Amino acid sequence: MMKVRKAVFPVAGLGTRFLSATKAMPKEMLPVVDKPLIQYAVEEALDSGIEQIIFVTGRGKSALEDHFDKSGELEEILRAKGKNELLKSIESVIPDSGTIIYTRQREMLGLGHAIWCARNVVGNEPFAVLLADDLIQSDTPVLSQMLKEFENLQSTMIAVFEVEPSETQKYGIIDAENISHNVKKVMGLIEKPTPEKAPSNNAIIGRYILTPEIFDILGQKKIGSGGEIQLTDAMASLLKDQSIYGYQFKGTRFDCGDKAGFLMANIAYALERPEIKPKLMPFINSIVK
Ligand code: G1P
Repeated sequence: MMKVRKAVFPVAGLGTRFLSATKAMPKEMLPVVDKPLIQYAVEEALDSGIEQIIFVTGRGKSALEDHFDKSGELEEILRAKGKNELLKSIESVIPDSGTIIYTRQREMLGLGHAIWCARNVVGNEPFAVLLADDLIQSDTPVLSQMLKEFENLQSTMIAVFEVEPSETQKYGIIDAENISHNVKKVMGLIEKPTPEKAPSNNAIIGRYILTPEIFDILGQKKIGSGGEIQLTDAMASLLKDQSIYGYQFKGTRFDCGDKAGFLMANIAYALERPEIKPKLMPFINSIVK
């Protein structure tokens, strides 16, 4: 039986949709309430039992490495001032040394290329991919839900959810047949089709469990939608040799790569916090009147 121990985080993207905020700061460091997006995704992976985190990073992204490292001076100041809660909150961010491995994507050639950059670190075993832009609020981490299904399926899996038919152009879209209430057998995949060309409104969101066979296909470096090497296209090729399953997860997904989605995430997560909700709620009520 194949076990998933490693998770790849493509974090080299430029974040142009959030300029000027992301000019000197990685988009993955944008905060939802008081935690950067990347930390939610890393915590989801570690809470799901992942043992090794692989960041495919790029130029100008060193804040990500610093975030998951010790900060001697800050820790000393917090300790001296007795701010123990804050100290705990920054210490808990840091996984054991050696848990995170960084590799660089030299050129921005797309998601498929970013995943291919992790091939030597992943090796010959199944692995997870998490896109930090897709933030999912759920009781059980979505990756953990998927890993449970993977124990039976032992094949490539993608998280899917239904989008408005007019929105298909923003996502990878699958053609699929239901095999249970939350698992679909994928019959085809297409990256960002127009609504006329979309085989369904079942969209891929940024949680994948992939098998190492994907690396050979990605290594062919075929250019797809948007002039980029697309993971969706590679999975469409893989479908000839391997079953792929769509998993309808339990949870609410926020598109934090989009300004409105990012703000919705901030509001939703803030309303979960007892110290913030009493201040935020009256304000929301007052401005929606
Ligand atoms: C990527 C994938 C796409 C998927 C989406 C989920 O697109 O290429 O198939 O539906 O993530 O967020 P991106 O949002 O990076 O353009």
